[in-house]
Amino acid sequence: MRIGVIGATGPAGQAVAVQFAGIGFEVVVGSRSLDRANDTVSALHDRWEGRQLSLVPGDNEAASGADLVVVATPWDGVLSTVAALEGQLAGKIVVSMANALTKWGKNMVPLLPPTGSVAVAVARALPASRVVGAFHHLPAGPWSDLDHQLDADVLVCGDDREATSEVVGLVDRLPGLRGVDAGGLASALAIEALTAALLEVNRRYKTHAAIRLTGLPARREA
Ligand SMILES: NC(=O)c1ccc[n+]([C@@H]2O[C@H](COP(=O)([O-])OP(=O)(O)OC[C@H]3O[C@@H](n4cnc5c(N)ncnc54)[C@H](OP(=O)(O)O)[C@@H]3O)[C@@H](O)[C@H]2O)c1
Repeated sequence: MRIGVIGATGPAGQAVAVQFAGIGFEVVVGSRSLDRANDTVSALHDRWEGRQLSLVPGDNEAASGADLVVVATPWDGVLSTVAALEGQLAGKIVVSMANALTKWGKNMVPLLPPTGSVAVAVARALPASRVVGAFHHLPAGPWSDLDHQLDADVLVCGDDREATSEVVGLVDRLPGLRGVDAGGLASALAIEALTAALLEVNRRYKTHAAIRLTGLPARREA
């Protein structure tokens, strides 16, 4: 399976790209500019010299040609970006990780999109795609460090239950992460908004918090 990341030149997209490449996937590092994609891939290969990371630069259209596509642009760029790629994304799992947030004075606060969440807006814009929300709470800095694994749960939500399970399974393969099925796409409202609270935690404690749920049954080994 090839994974494409749209907006992979930013910290979040780079973290997704190196983590999946780190477990052996070929990852298309997408950007609106092929030059920026090339620069990003060179920088990642330099940083992780000695590791066999299969990172391929491309424009966002090339990234959307992959088998599973992660959208890692800022929330206000998501809709125009995916709408322009609707045809290429049809039939595919499209992972939305964007959080609609803004600053209110010094505080980071959630915004409420008319659809309730960015993920639902993506699903409306891509009726033929299998839209799943994931990765909203992972702090990109520590998560992009292949030498230090981030221990965290990833809340995954989607109305396509098979696609949601597939993404939970993929998350489980990433070092330190546990995928948790958080229900249908309606859960994205709470998941995305929670990111604002986590960023406030980070600001106050000068850290990069992630989440771990308690009370889940131990996972059976396959
Ligand atoms: N940063 C984190 O720790 C983190 C963690 C979890 C989730 N997220 C979510 O992940 C997404 C990306 O976060 P980020 O911090 O990496 O963001 P970012 O650096 O601001 O943007 C990522 C990339 O998106 C592209 N982009 C910027 N504006 C765009 C627009 N209007 N339309 C289309 N593409 C645009 C740019 O790439 P090109 O110019 O190369 O196209 C940029 O490098 C956000 O929605 C954020 O809420 C972030």
